[in-house]
Amino acid sequence: MAITEIVPGIHYVGVNDRTTTRFEGLWSLPQGVSYNAYLVVGEKIALIDTVEEAFGSRLEANIREVIGDRRIDYLVINHMEPDHSSSIATLRRIYPDLQLVANAKALQMVEGYYGVKGNAIEVKEGSTLDLGDGKSLSFHMIPMVHWPETMVTWCAEEQTLFSGDAMGTFGALDGGITDSQVDAERYWDEMRRYYACIVGKYGAPVQKALQKLATLPVRTICPTHGPVWQQHIGRVLDLYDRMSRYEGEPGVVIAYASMYGNTEQLAERIARELVSAGVRNIRLYNLSYADPSVVLRDVFRFDTLLVGGPTYNGGLFPPVGELLDKLAARCIPQRRFGWFGSFNWAGASVRLLGEFAQKMKWETLCDPIEMRQGFGEKMFDACHALACNVAEKLRNKA
Ligand code: FEO
Repeated sequence: MAITEIVPGIHYVGVNDRTTTRFEGLWSLPQGVSYNAYLVVGEKIALIDTVEEAFGSRLEANIREVIGDRRIDYLVINHMEPDHSSSIATLRRIYPDLQLVANAKALQMVEGYYGVKGNAIEVKEGSTLDLGDGKSLSFHMIPMVHWPETMVTWCAEEQTLFSGDAMGTFGALDGGITDSQVDAERYWDEMRRYYACIVGKYGAPVQKALQKLATLPVRTICPTHGPVWQQHIGRVLDLYDRMSRYEGEPGVVIAYASMYGNTEQLAERIARELVSAGVRNIRLYNLSYADPSVVLRDVFRFDTLLVGGPTYNGGLFPPVGELLDKLAARCIPQRRFGWFGSFNWAGASVRLLGEFAQKMKWETLCDPIEMRQGFGEKMFDACHALACNVAEKLRNKA
């Protein structure tokens, strides 16, 4: 078996990117990212998705390593975000007879982004493509996981699902391709972070997709980022199910920002009191410095969120406002919420955090703490009371 072969006749031809620092111009990539593409080789040859344009020549080299000078007959386009589609024009130049296989929305986007049109097979839900030599593909629409044109491709003979962004992770592949060839533990947090940042708004479409795909006897999942899943399919599907239902596990994220350290001391004291009240699994983030993708990841992961910040120009301190914007954009339907804030001469942050909780229709855990000017012993009782209240609510709901 060739070193690129995942299952008989299906090869990995993707690439790793360890130089881009911000995915989508937004999200950090401390461990890089992979852009996965796959070749399905029958009598005819299909390439499933491409890679980011800057890596087009590596994709070509990977393809030639597998099929030499044979031509690619079909390019299946599961998803049009440019991290997967921006080598399409290059491939058309290298393989001028290449037929595009995509749904109507994707074909419109191919022309819109790259000016590429013609020589295409438009597919719909359940369409099939016979490659010969015991390989066929079928196509299933999963709109909004992550764009409206998104679909998955199923190879029934090899029980292999090409799942697009679904079940993908940040993190480059360090030599291994399948989950049995890598340290899978490294990727769970990167899967959560990828989901929270990229797909997190689309919980309902992900749920629909999971229900649709549940009927397929999947033995291999080939996503567009991260490892190919074979050994851990149950865990992957369970994690996706819980994340797309916005279900948090027991734990508290305390996200705060502080101009001169007073609100920070409030946050630290609340955390210490929470521990003393028996709460474990606490993550404390200073929003002026924390990686927003990591904070989002843990807000998706845990069921309780405490947010605090000073009043600034009569409103929220900007790093706190930015977090609230990201949470609202992801339409997270439920979190247990507590809040605290500070001011010098006129308070606003506590009121605005309370209004945010109301707008989100989140369960509020207790009265907030509002601190005037500096932190000191005067705040100890309030921190103790808030922490006991939160701990009791968590115990009652456990
Ligand atoms: Fe990996 Fe939505 O693109």
